[in-house]
Amino acid sequence: MLKEIEDIKAKYPDTRAALLPALYIAQKEFGWLSLDAMKAVANALNLPESDVRGTASFYSMFRLKPAGRNLIQLCTNISCMILGAERLRDLLKDRYGLLPGGTTEDGRFSLVIMECIGACGTAPAMLVNTDLYENLTEHNIAEILGKYK
Ligand code: FES
Repeated sequence: MLKEIEDIKAKYPDTRAALLPALYIAQKEFGWLSLDAMKAVANALNLPESDVRGTASFYSMFRLKPAGRNLIQLCTNISCMILGAERLRDLLKDRYGLLPGGTTEDGRFSLVIMECIGACGTAPAMLVNTDLYENLTEHNIAEILGKYK
């Protein structure tokens, strides 16, 4: 991870500009950003730990607590909301016990509510890890989630 961060750092004239990709690398390595992981990033970039923590806590794409094996990012913004995203959010709660910001008891899924993932024309939409799913319904979402163990 540190080698990868060093490589990224070399691409920017100001090491602060490498902070977001460095945090992404750390999260990819550990699955989430612990205080130790953020400290390692701060040391690698010669930045104050408070700057690293402040940046990591600002962006919803960074996880500050352990996450499930699969991350569901469900959009509930206007297009998705109009086409049923709130029903999907309720379904995730009722069927999987999954609340926004939470993780299933078996560690299979974590859920994050997103503002927009750029798939408004085929709403409602969600990401599972890096896979995009569109035109979601209460019927096809269970089938989709069945692919992820
Ligand atoms: S509003 Fe849901 S993808 Fe844009």
